[in-house]
Amino acid sequence: MNEQTWIPEEHYNEAADYVRSRLPQAPAIGLVLGSGLGTLAEEIANPTRVPYQEIPHWPRSTVEGHVGQLVAGELEGQPVLAMQGRIHFYEGYSMAQVTLPMRVMRLLGVHTVVLTNAAGGINRNFQAGDIMVIEDHIFPPGMAGFTPLRGPNIASFGPRFSIHGRTYTPELRQLAHRVAEAHGITLREGVYVSLSGPAFETPAEVRALRVWGGDAVGMSTAPEALVAYHAGMRVLGFSTITNLSIDRTDSVEEVSHEEVLRIGREVVPKLATIIRGVLRQMPPYDPSQVENAPEQA
Ligand code: HPA
Repeated sequence: MNEQTWIPEEHYNEAADYVRSRLPQAPAIGLVLGSGLGTLAEEIANPTRVPYQEIPHWPRSTVEGHVGQLVAGELEGQPVLAMQGRIHFYEGYSMAQVTLPMRVMRLLGVHTVVLTNAAGGINRNFQAGDIMVIEDHIFPPGMAGFTPLRGPNIASFGPRFSIHGRTYTPELRQLAHRVAEAHGITLREGVYVSLSGPAFETPAEVRALRVWGGDAVGMSTAPEALVAYHAGMRVLGFSTITNLSIDRTDSVEEVSHEEVLRIGREVVPKLATIIRGVLRQMPPYDPSQVENAPEQA
């Protein structure tokens, strides 16, 4: 594997040109399906599938539970492009490679991304099987320098010093709550902490993240949200709480990837209901909803 700290502009264009040549229509909404959530892609109508390995410069997914293909088509009448399986930093890719798909989606015409993940619950009120809409994130690897925006800035995507005060579009979060309520689904809201993994957190780390204000912890999403928002896209994020993070060294409980996948699959129908409802009522893209809006053509 060739880890690339930053990616030249032509690589994004080459990847986008290839995907565009394979799709019957331009997508408007991107979906990233996390651990155990890939089955959502099977609900997409008129699907066109593009395996990651066919796309120039596209990283491959190496994790069990992540298929590794794009699925384009319609969901609730919206032209969507789903990543069935995502790329993680812990697989050995750089943050720039992990987030290449967001910029490619932007080039293809995507204006809104819906990011999903499996996460551990840090908030003491959460239970396994809960769904949380992401209010904001804490991204320690990014704070420590492993940010996907490091390196020469490509101004056609966004500004050198971008603003991230409302990464997860408030209007879309509110819409998610309305949809959940209409279907009698409990929807939590909170702060997602994005660590690099692949090791699960130690109990002391879990307690520390709770003090920081985290509600859920996982190994993805913040890099993608950062790059998508930098490029002027709206972002909506959901965590499925597949387990409660263990916060005591004398606990006999354990977290396993299998359990994460199993609970993830169990909550898929509820999350699918929320995402479908959001897509059905998706408000048109409005540059005033984002802080790094693209220049008007
Ligand atoms: N920690 C980190 N990532 C996770 C967890 C967790 O407890 N559960 C699912 N993904």
